[in-house]
Amino acid sequence: MEKKNIDWSNLGFGYVQTDYRYVSNFKDGAWDDGCLTTDANIVLNECAGVLQYAQTIFEGLKAYTTEDGKIVTFRPDLNAERMMDSAARLEMPVFPKEKFIDAVTKVVAANAAYVPPFGSGATLYLRPYMFGSNPVIGVKPATEYQFRLFCTPVGPYFKGGVKPLTIKVSDFDRAAPNGTGHIKAGLNYAMSLHAIVTAHEEGFDENMYLDSKTRTKVEETGGANFLFVTKDGKVVTPKSSSILPSITRRSLLYVAKEYLGLEVEEREVYFEEVKDFAECGLCGTAAVISPVGKIVDHGKEICLPSGMTEMGPVTKKLYETLTGIQMGRIEAPKGWIHVIE
Ligand code: PLP
Ligand code: COI
Repeated sequence: MEKKNIDWSNLGFGYVQTDYRYVSNFKDGAWDDGCLTTDANIVLNECAGVLQYAQTIFEGLKAYTTEDGKIVTFRPDLNAERMMDSAARLEMPVFPKEKFIDAVTKVVAANAAYVPPFGSGATLYLRPYMFGSNPVIGVKPATEYQFRLFCTPVGPYFKGGVKPLTIKVSDFDRAAPNGTGHIKAGLNYAMSLHAIVTAHEEGFDENMYLDSKTRTKVEETGGANFLFVTKDGKVVTPKSSSILPSITRRSLLYVAKEYLGLEVEEREVYFEEVKDFAECGLCGTAAVISPVGKIVDHGKEICLPSGMTEMGPVTKKLYETLTGIQMGRIEAPKGWIHVIE
């Protein structure tokens, strides 16, 4: 199969329209069979639930070309499960796991020409999502839904690739204690837009959100979980019921413990402790692990000892092991790699 003529190594994190996407509709209490379509546009009633009350959820995962030329995805079963949790919280029908994995497989296989080659630094980002599609005017859940899955080839999420980031402690809150921070609802991202635009205008790459109840504990950023390394080499990651349970973070904790023999701790992390850490990184599907060099709290700078030029040594080992597993250079734990072709 011939690859598309794309300058893979200069791709940013943007939308490139590919040839096929998957669509399935929910009506009268059941999902239809679902199929691939070449139509990238959606026609909706003006009163659709998603347009009025933001009833929409999404996921994000990637397809990779491995060193030996296979196309694979990473732990799609966990994305399927998290989407089921998101659906339940927003009173949406659950999209079955087998259908989700089938949609992933079909879309990646149909768009194989867009899967970046091994070693190019790019990947194919998959975006499954679901929304209320029938007219809703009183505040209530829709009765009809559409599930879609499209893909787009992407490069690094942050400009500058693995150059350490400067982030600010945000005055805005991302999630309420009993709200929707733990699911992947579009509404969580809509309300973070003002905060990220403000941070960018001030010259920062991202926001660090604190817990909205006490504003003393580290939560996450707008699109990634935090990972810290202590001066004695322990990997620490914030535990909170209002952050997204990142699949990358869960995988990295396993990698740290089982592959690298590091001590790991998932616990509440107080902002007060951050100045004592040796390394800090943002982890997620899009972010992979992006190192943080500086955290600014209302003008007060915390400069991580790992500095502003490269990844800290533990972050680097984690990055290399995780990407090695994803790209087939390192043997994966059972069930982590889903081979497409
Ligand atoms: N936190 C938020 C708010 C996110 O949007 C994401 C991205 O999916 C993550 C964390 C990382 O999650 P994952 O590793 O499953 O991509
Ligand atoms: C992801 O990492 O998949 C995300 O969804 C983060 C961001 C692009 C919203």
